[in-house]
Amino acid sequence: MESLLIHGGKRLEGTLRVDGAKNAALPILAASVLTENTVHLYDVPDILDVRRMADILSMLGCRTHWHGHELTVSGHSMCSSEMPDALSKQIRSSIFLLGPILSRFRRATVTYPGGCEIGLRPIDLHLSGLRALGVDVREEGGVIHCDGVNMHAGEVHLDYPSVGATENVIMAAMCLAGTTTIHNAAREPEIVDLCRFLTAMGGRIHGAGSATIQVDGVKRLHGADYTPMPDRIVAGTLLCAGAITGGCVELTNAPVDDMHAICAKLREMGCAICEAGDTICLQAPQRLNAFPILQTQPHPGFPTDMQAQMLALLSVAEGTGVIVENVFENRFTHAGDLNRMGARIICSGRTAIVRGVESLTGAHVTARDLRGGAALTLAGLVAQGETVVEHAELIDRGYEHFERQLCLLGADVTRKHTTA
Ligand code: UD1
Repeated sequence: MESLLIHGGKRLEGTLRVDGAKNAALPILAASVLTENTVHLYDVPDILDVRRMADILSMLGCRTHWHGHELTVSGHSMCSSEMPDALSKQIRSSIFLLGPILSRFRRATVTYPGGCEIGLRPIDLHLSGLRALGVDVREEGGVIHCDGVNMHAGEVHLDYPSVGATENVIMAAMCLAGTTTIHNAAREPEIVDLCRFLTAMGGRIHGAGSATIQVDGVKRLHGADYTPMPDRIVAGTLLCAGAITGGCVELTNAPVDDMHAICAKLREMGCAICEAGDTICLQAPQRLNAFPILQTQPHPGFPTDMQAQMLALLSVAEGTGVIVENVFENRFTHAGDLNRMGARIICSGRTAIVRGVESLTGAHVTARDLRGGAALTLAGLVAQGETVVEHAELIDRGYEHFERQLCLLGADVTRKHTTA
């Protein structure tokens, strides 16, 4: 088990460069098996989820090679259409491979994916999207068998704009003759980034970033060199680290245009934020103000992946605020630990009501999911005394050396590894 030890009370100040985005790199890695040629990816975040995805590709027969933050994938030797069971259960993004594998082999076998325990997270939308493209889906004992012999381009309507389902259907449709239209598609920037990558591979896609996406099938895709977009959630989390400590944080390589919802809330809390090109600078007030309400929504609404961090900020803000989690049904698991640190949060269903307190006290707390773990670390930065965040390996799923980044800004955070 990994733990983070935090001695709170340091005002964070300094400049950091934002890493490549996990949620862009993962579907892009899945898409790289759409071609037999080699794909070179740059600025790939070296985080647990990306490592696991690369391992899955290797087990499917692809050649993968890391060189620093460069990752090369060669799908030429890919030989299996069966997802490795144990690894797939560790990351939800393994389901992104369903579309690309179907495109390559016209058949695929997958198990239900794993990932953060933040709700039911079914895959019905992925499967109904693929069915609309003629895939025959059979589920048997937790194993999903997909037969794509009769796959065809078509009209797909998603009941909900699921990020993963949108990406899976786009990838499945890339090489189907004719035009596939996805209605009620998700509009997240990482989908736009995936489509840019697919276009660099020779694909033809219109409307990425809007609710209607059209894929004009091409005969084949070729290799490409690509740099995934920077991570807006990592950037938002680092801004929150500055905000909660009354500090001043500058980020370079920030996806500024994709961070309006996050910056608007931080401004509402009293932070001054300047943006210039791909640089963003946050200057926090001495004490944050509570915002009246924050509701998570699909993009361009407030991202659910920033909700936990904002709950930590609200815990120490002046006044009372409400957070409504509309995307996932079980995403306040960190609230109990924040309360153990002295926060005053009441949760009921998808709503959290937070009465800001003047200070938090360090405690032994447990990361239960990726963003919740980041939120507890943020709380530790302002808590009096020592905070220990256990199960920090969950934080490693999405942040590369989180403690090192915070230390570069002046925080006192160290890592401890304990064997069971
Ligand atoms: C992606 C992101 C994740 C983010 C989420 C929402 C990646 C690797 N992960 O996850 O960080 O929190 O978008 O912005 O990009 N749903 C169904 N049926 C489905 C699929 C989804 O009911 O078939 C539900 C989910 O349970 C959830 C909601 O739809 O309540 C949103 O899920 P979705 O947009 O699919 O998120 P992911 O792609 O899993």
